[in-house]
Amino acid sequence: MFKNLLNIKDLSVEDIKAIFSESDRIAKYLRKGQKSLDVLKGKSIMTLFYENSTRTRVSFENAANFLGATVTSVNVATSSVQKGETLIDTAETLDSMQTDLFVMRHSISGASDLLAKTVEAKVINAGDGLHAHPTQALLDMYTMREHFGSVKGLTVTIIGDVKHSRVARSNIYGLSKMGATVKIYGPNTLIPEGIENMPCTVCHSLEEAFANSDIIMALRIQLERQQKGLFPSVSEYHKYFGINDKNLQFAKKDVAIMHPGPVNRNVEVAENILSSEKSLINRQVHNGLITRMGILNLMLGKTI
Ligand code: CP
Repeated sequence: MFKNLLNIKDLSVEDIKAIFSESDRIAKYLRKGQKSLDVLKGKSIMTLFYENSTRTRVSFENAANFLGATVTSVNVATSSVQKGETLIDTAETLDSMQTDLFVMRHSISGASDLLAKTVEAKVINAGDGLHAHPTQALLDMYTMREHFGSVKGLTVTIIGDVKHSRVARSNIYGLSKMGATVKIYGPNTLIPEGIENMPCTVCHSLEEAFANSDIIMALRIQLERQQKGLFPSVSEYHKYFGINDKNLQFAKKDVAIMHPGPVNRNVEVAENILSSEKSLINRQVHNGLITRMGILNLMLGKTI
């Protein structure tokens, strides 16, 4: 099994299948209401989030708690990082406290690789800059597998701000590795340079993007970037790139809607679609807990 989880590209198909299988076993216990599994008793896990998060941080902390590990959530805002301590010095300090595994989010692409080179403990990348968010892609693929039976053979359209999205990058590589077809659509200003070298097809109209897709995955529009003129306005964005009843006429009747969260309601997805049966968004959050339990177990050498 892999020592660190830094990028979905580093995982083999067998690694991903092993995570899904362990997650399936864990899901059985959770369905019975068993949240105290004690598999990781004696293991020490630290979460180190330099960027905001709800889903990823809380699901990792719940996952580690349910498995019986000792969990420490480092509050970066009140830590010595605020006194100017470097990432390497912080990492070496925390590594000296009998830590078995770090879960880190950072705004700089490559920060998790640097952490992994610095510490003896194992490292999970919980999102680094624009680069990678491997556990998000794993929970997304697990959710697709749960809903459709298999990832292989699915057609997935990723729509929105692909340029700034580590979620899109991890899903493009993860989905293609698992045998899915990936289509991309969004404003020209939000499609990254070099997309032609990634295993996906860029669509040039919404009709083309939605046609024959089993899943449409909307990405969060980073409203803080709107001042930079990357798209004209939020309402225009919704009109041309948002998911609503009007443009879903171009999609399959049983298309599923996904979004990594947090959602800007009525921007990326219309409110009524968010609460419809098509939305798998709450399953994504639930499966985030399950798959992260599976990942922690496998990385720390335990299985259920
Ligand atoms: N999807 C995701 O990474 O959400 P958070 O920022 O809330 O962790």
